[in-house]
Amino acid sequence: MESSLYERVGGMAFFVTLVNHFYEGVQDDPILRPMYPEDLEPGKEHLALFLAQYWGGPSTYQDLRGHPRLRMRHAEFVITKRARDAWITHMTTAVDTMEMSQDDRSEMVAYLDMAAHNLRNR
Ligand code: HEM
Repeated sequence: MESSLYERVGGMAFFVTLVNHFYEGVQDDPILRPMYPEDLEPGKEHLALFLAQYWGGPSTYQDLRGHPRLRMRHAEFVITKRARDAWITHMTTAVDTMEMSQDDRSEMVAYLDMAAHNLRNR
């Protein structure tokens, strides 16, 4: 059986660490920080669970939050090109700190970039 990206990168711990790094960027970002709620912890958990599920991990995200419907869930946020690019910058910086194969890295960056482009709504 083929392994999932989730398994190859080391499971849930990988996604928790990745999202922690990403949020270090969000915390100090003048465009993104005001879009996020005061308490960043629930959003961190949801993002880590979503990404883990997307790459073949357990379906905990779906169990807790239901169908992802990312465009709908982001409709309340004004996502301009600048906000999208800031998001991509922090996420790519976070991915760069993580250890994984070049193929997995390329797949991850390509998906995140595509998804972020899809969520721009202004
Ligand atoms: C394009 C720029 C993006 C911006 C500005 C943005 C912003 C946000 C904000 C403000 C939240 C709410 C956080 C909270 O309630 O604590 C959120 C939640 C979330 N975002 Fe994004 N996001 C972006 C792109 C993405 C992308 C590309 C993905 C997936 C690959 C993603 C996945 C999620 C998930 C899974 C949640 C949690 C949804 C839930 O409540 O279950 N976001 N995002």
